[in-house]
Amino acid sequence: MDIRGLGYVTVRSTDLQQWRHYASQVLGMMVVEDAAASQLLLKMDARPYRLLVQQDTQDGFGACGWEVAGQAAFDQALAELRAAGVAVEQGSVELAAQRQVQALASFADPDGNCHELYWGPRQDFARFVSPVGVRGFVSDELGMGHVVLPAPTFERCRDFYEQVMGFGLSDLMKVRFTPDPAEPEKRIHFLHCNNGRHHSLAIFECPVPSGCVHLMVEVDGLDEVGRALDRLHTHGVKLTATLGQHTNDQMISFYMRTPAGFDLEYGCDGLVVDWSRHTPFESTVVSHWGHDFSVGRQ
Ligand SMILES: [Fe+2]
Repeated sequence: MDIRGLGYVTVRSTDLQQWRHYASQVLGMMVVEDAAASQLLLKMDARPYRLLVQQDTQDGFGACGWEVAGQAAFDQALAELRAAGVAVEQGSVELAAQRQVQALASFADPDGNCHELYWGPRQDFARFVSPVGVRGFVSDELGMGHVVLPAPTFERCRDFYEQVMGFGLSDLMKVRFTPDPAEPEKRIHFLHCNNGRHHSLAIFECPVPSGCVHLMVEVDGLDEVGRALDRLHTHGVKLTATLGQHTNDQMISFYMRTPAGFDLEYGCDGLVVDWSRHTPFESTVVSHWGHDFSVGRQ
């Protein structure tokens, strides 16, 4: 399956007003109202949107939208999913129009995480002009960021992503939440698709009620991360991990709670990898410095 990047993410919201404020004033994204479809389009680059926040009866993660190389790749991907016994639903013309793509299909992984696959995004090339002066987000050929999804039945999900969806293992970690050696280790596998971003997806061996561990968006410099941290404090958003630098993708970032209940990692300087020269490794520490996740549990 020739997945070129994480094209978009959908989010479920009971309160679009809350998201309108959070996205524009804290994240620094442009917000376009689509009243007809009861959704907000959050724009962070030349695409019409990268985040789609949809009115729902519950707050939480919706789906990942994966971009494939074109119509032939799309048809091939659907055939591969069906050959693997995955229930694939072809999106209607109306849904494709709403997502602003040529065609899409939806399916779920073995743990019920929802995915959409599409080709041919519509682009109006309107400039990104942040309401709070963010210079820009790092996306384009690297995709809009990365998502970490809960995968309690880990082996089934790992096989699904690697063998059916064609992701490659970037590297892995095993973590415990307590110092107790009797606590079973939880695995995190970091996975890449056909672009240089260190990981577009990671799977974590743990259930998460919001449906997502975190979503990462990348800005183009440390000063932009610092300014976002200032805006978090100004607007009283909950910090869930302090500023730090990851060992594997070298991202300098902080984490905060979103109105959907899952976390958002806001970072810069993420590693871009030449996969022909890469071998996976296991990290025994999450970060070089910082990233105190205990602040999120207080
Ligand atoms: Fe991350």
